[in-house]
Amino acid sequence: METGQADYGLIEEGAIVSDGEHIAWAGPAASLPNTYAGAETDDLGGLLVTPALIDCHTHLIYGGDRSREFATRLKGASYEDITAAGGGIHATVAATRSASDAALRKAALKRIDRMIADGVSVIEIKSGYGLTIEDEIRMLRIARSLEGARRVKILTTWLAAHVVAKEYDGDTDAYIESVAIPGMKKAAAEGLIDAVDAFCERIAFPPSSVAKLFDAARDLGLPVKLHAEQLSDQKGAVLAAQYRAQSVDHLEYLSPDDASVLAKAGTVAVLLPGAFYTLRETKPPPIEALRAAGVEMAVATDCNPGTSPLSSILLAMNMASTLFGLTPEEALAGTTRAAARALGIEKGYGTIAPGKRAELAVWDVGDPAALVFYMGAAPLARRISAMVRS
Ligand code: NIG
Ligand code: FE
Repeated sequence: METGQADYGLIEEGAIVSDGEHIAWAGPAASLPNTYAGAETDDLGGLLVTPALIDCHTHLIYGGDRSREFATRLKGASYEDITAAGGGIHATVAATRSASDAALRKAALKRIDRMIADGVSVIEIKSGYGLTIEDEIRMLRIARSLEGARRVKILTTWLAAHVVAKEYDGDTDAYIESVAIPGMKKAAAEGLIDAVDAFCERIAFPPSSVAKLFDAARDLGLPVKLHAEQLSDQKGAVLAAQYRAQSVDHLEYLSPDDASVLAKAGTVAVLLPGAFYTLRETKPPPIEALRAAGVEMAVATDCNPGTSPLSSILLAMNMASTLFGLTPEEALAGTTRAAARALGIEKGYGTIAPGKRAELAVWDVGDPAALVFYMGAAPLARRISAMVRS
């Protein structure tokens, strides 16, 4: 499926030519150029082939366990109440700071293996549970090290502006100026940052603090993205669009009128139905307005220990359709083409086309919609990956 196509772009009886790393040709087998006649072949048995899936929003490195918090929420406490009272993200920060590198790596690899089993080849991982310069950088170093352990591409996002560290007693600007910005400079100098993110929300950072961080990111030439409008309309998405953000994520409280701003900036809307479901939210993102404005929509797990204990991208796709009304075509584009754009890697990933990386998923399903429809069905037959283990 190429850019702008609304359907799957499905080719019956297709063939793909690759040099092992990149796709050289793709199309109907009957039109395969003669030049490839003698090439080594791998018969995929008529199964469905898609680009390998991309999980473009995760927080999968963390210590501890917050399932008790889930029980508290079921009794009526809100996520905001729990965070404001020092639980929520703060509880994970304490557990992550005190966990060893080896323990964090081991737990993260378990989640990554679950993702690989769903046909995922590219995973974005955010920092955000360290909240000191050193602890945040440690998270990114661990994230990058996971590439050496599995055949996956990892992109790392600097999310020191997740919440204000307790040490800063709610002083958002002091935290941004003392931790988020100087830490970002240090991590960028080590080449550890692919993008910069923040949580723009009443319990986290106001748009004015986010703007300071984004100005500094721009000076470093780093792309930005934003957790925006998850619990309230802070106009974070509009701010992010002014910085030509790669993506704005969550968006339940985005005003439909603001969709056109995202379209103009080429900013992708990343939908995270796992968080919506877990927090038992009732207001879905304004899908119709996003669609009408031509905003590309990605879908991700938001795999994290509090609001989205989800490591199945296929289940995220199912929820995006069932809870938000995405068509199965949109859900699949959301974890391939649009997800690649949300990470700024669309030149190499996200579609099956000449020049793209030969990262493919082979599925034992009769129709692409089955990937979205079935829940917990494990439809992956094979993942084809040229990723090198270092
Ligand atoms: O994307 N919204 C902020 N961050 C995460 C939640 C993290 C947590 O609760 O630990 C999210 O939903
Ligand atoms: Fe998130």
